[in-house]
Amino acid sequence: MKHAGLLCGPGERIPKLGFMPRQLITPRKIADHVQRLGELYPPIALDTVDRTIKNPTAVADRYGHVIDYLARVELEVDRNVLELLVLLDDVDDTNKTFYQAVWQPQEIQHGLILDRLQQDLGRTPAEPHLDVSFKIKILGALATLKPVQDVAKLLYFFTGASTERQAVLAYNQINHGITALGETAISQTILTPIKQQEPGHFAFYQMSATAMIQDKVLKPWQLFLARVLREKSYNLVGTNAMNGYKADMGGVVLDLGLDADLEGYAREVGRVETRLLWAHHEGLQFPPYILRALQESVDLYRERGLATAASPL
Ligand SMILES: [Fe+2]
Ligand SMILES: [Fe+2]
Repeated sequence: MKHAGLLCGPGERIPKLGFMPRQLITPRKIADHVQRLGELYPPIALDTVDRTIKNPTAVADRYGHVIDYLARVELEVDRNVLELLVLLDDVDDTNKTFYQAVWQPQEIQHGLILDRLQQDLGRTPAEPHLDVSFKIKILGALATLKPVQDVAKLLYFFTGASTERQAVLAYNQINHGITALGETAISQTILTPIKQQEPGHFAFYQMSATAMIQDKVLKPWQLFLARVLREKSYNLVGTNAMNGYKADMGGVVLDLGLDADLEGYAREVGRVETRLLWAHHEGLQFPPYILRALQESVDLYRERGLATAASPL
């Protein structure tokens, strides 16, 4: 049977992304989108959350690891902003408004709310990784050259699109699971408001990447470089190119049941770059590095489980 999207609940499927817009993405459209997001979705205040948890043990057993992971990654938004500033030294007004007035204020609240939830579940507070990596600093230094700056910008938008899409899918999956456990307060006052804000972030990065390709900002050699760098540096959300976090992500993939169709998941997560960066590979469903990253995470998680099981203590 042809794959028709990821399962997210009994008989229900996460809708696939719509068609890439055929009309031109203008700077005005992106700016309007950012303004709309700011107006529609103010950051979620901590005191709007109903902290009722009917069965904390059941929630922690089933989804504690996923909540830990999401809390940490959301709190790492401050590092993401630093990375943006290292990479893009000529950030335009729209990008500035997006990260200063919309994205960072929304994401940090997601992090704080989830961090409090994990502590309400009796788990340890998140420890976000806030150091900008050496690799990013090197790329940042190179990106002061205009041709490299454009490559870095495109990669930045692809990373944003891919990670935000993963966020959309993760919140959909966990919200179904939490609802099935009967935890309506968590679902209605935490997960639903958070998951409403993620698609707008995704759309921003998707539109920004699309505009660069449609306007032919990059010459063929720059696109070639972008492909090479993307292939070499692709990371799943929150893994920070570190094996420990990759193994944690493998646990999230399994806990959310995404391993039932890893290829379908790779297709969802990679749709924007498949279309924009690899369009010359006809029939390619997703770039192979995405499935490789998923498989590596799951393997590392399983290996860690085996190592723990084999430990004498
Ligand atoms: Fe978020
Ligand atoms: Fe987001």
